[in-house]
Amino acid sequence: MKSLSNGFYLTTPLYYVNDRPHLGTAYSTIVADVLARYHRFFNEPTILITGVDEHGQKVQEASIKNSTPAQDYCDQMALRFKEAWSELNIQYDIFFRTTNSFHKLAVQQCLQNLFNKGEIYTSEYEGWYSVSEEIFYTEKDLINGKSPTGKEVTKVTEKNYFFKMSNYQQKLMDHIQNHESFICPESRRNEVLGFLRQPLNDLCISRPKSRLTWGIDLPFDSNFVTYVWFDALLNYATGVGYLQKEREKEFQSWWVDVGAIHLIGKDILTTHAVYWTTMLLALELPLPKQIFAHGWILNKDMEKMSKSSGSIIDPLALTEKIGVDSLRYFLIRDIHLGNDAPISKALITQRINTELANNLGNLFSRTTQLVEKFFNSEVPQPHSTETTSVLQLKKSALSACHKVKQEIEQMSPHEAVEVVVQLLNLANKYLEDEAPWKLTKTDLNAAGTVLYVSLEILRISSALLSPIMPEKMEQIKIRLGSPPMEWNDLNQWGLLKPGTKIVKGDSLFPRLEESSL
Ligand code: MSP
Repeated sequence: MKSLSNGFYLTTPLYYVNDRPHLGTAYSTIVADVLARYHRFFNEPTILITGVDEHGQKVQEASIKNSTPAQDYCDQMALRFKEAWSELNIQYDIFFRTTNSFHKLAVQQCLQNLFNKGEIYTSEYEGWYSVSEEIFYTEKDLINGKSPTGKEVTKVTEKNYFFKMSNYQQKLMDHIQNHESFICPESRRNEVLGFLRQPLNDLCISRPKSRLTWGIDLPFDSNFVTYVWFDALLNYATGVGYLQKEREKEFQSWWVDVGAIHLIGKDILTTHAVYWTTMLLALELPLPKQIFAHGWILNKDMEKMSKSSGSIIDPLALTEKIGVDSLRYFLIRDIHLGNDAPISKALITQRINTELANNLGNLFSRTTQLVEKFFNSEVPQPHSTETTSVLQLKKSALSACHKVKQEIEQMSPHEAVEVVVQLLNLANKYLEDEAPWKLTKTDLNAAGTVLYVSLEILRISSALLSPIMPEKMEQIKIRLGSPPMEWNDLNQWGLLKPGTKIVKGDSLFPRLEESSL
């Protein structure tokens, strides 16, 4: 692999296999897929890694509850995640499993390396453990006898191994302060800086086998397994070849030259922004380019949608009702990346009906219907395209391409959609003003021009939305007889060839009824 001067290396969290995929985990994955698809579209070398987190107490408990040996249980669950991501049209490059043997070896090598350097020591530990978060808390962290996020904790006293995380506190703070976009959005950056202003504890990185067997053995003490987070976080490096002889160049390209962007939920900010980064500093590896924390999908009580709050939505059941592309569109469009957002049947219905059924869907059906009826289903020849309204539309379409790219590069896919929605609004307004359904009776050439302009806007808009709605936008492309959608050609006007056959076909986005969701 040759060295990369530019590129996009994106990761999702690795999902715990004690739970099936739900709308929260689907959200992280869909956002990542959309961003990666855009970057591929921009012709950037791109790699997207997602996968599953298979070790730890939660998973061990789930496998016991299911009376299935842990590895078999993980194999079944990993398959469920893969199937769900395939249904949601996720185009990942690597599906990572923490039970991969190359990963386990690399984790042990890191542990041994840190142990040899004196970065890991053993000590008697007393603290409070939250199984659901797989995190230790000290007495002073607890709020009303629960973890700071309200999870049950149990008291634990045991010998354990610790990583000297506190040694890296200042170095990490300096890095965050010197790199403005290292932790995003800004509110999360401030949260981490606030956390780092308090004394930082060392990190307990082992679990005695008497309590947990399902993990990677500590190479220097076989009575212990590795803490699940220490194991799972390393996937971001081992996934692109870290500590694998035959993949050294790959690791150099992706980890060192390009730099990773970790897309995570805000609930796992500390583990990424503090645990992972200090581990990397101790291992003398470069830090990722960015850690971007998205918000939560909220239930009707405005709480995080989660299994424990009993408010889980199954994304696959939802797509059966509204379609995969509509779900992807809704999540990208309605949730300002980085913020929390509620989700409800009413919100979904309203968004899909106003923007997909009415705005985009209507523009497509009105235009193609007239082309079928008055132009023998062939792309009409445009005539006077130098009028002010056409010039303005052309200008808006071309600048939309530029703006979409900018918004995606700034991790604002919701704004990228807004750009295209505005363009479609303009096109619908143009159609209303020019009324080609009337012009067909008086001036067929003029009607042909209006329809040609509208078809061109549809060609460009559908290409711009294709990373969000790959299937439906491909349908539009095929029905318009559009040439392949290359990013470099996109800001050229007039690529639809007059005389090309088009197909109106069925309604692309049938209107939704809230009561049927
Ligand atoms: N296994 C760890 C991550 C290890 S990364 C090396 C983990 N797994 S998880 O299965 O709990 O899923 C985590 C991801 O799902 C997080 O990004 C989390 O924010 C996301 N979501 C789970 N519920 C969510 C919502 N209700 N809304 C949005 N995302 C949420 O943590």
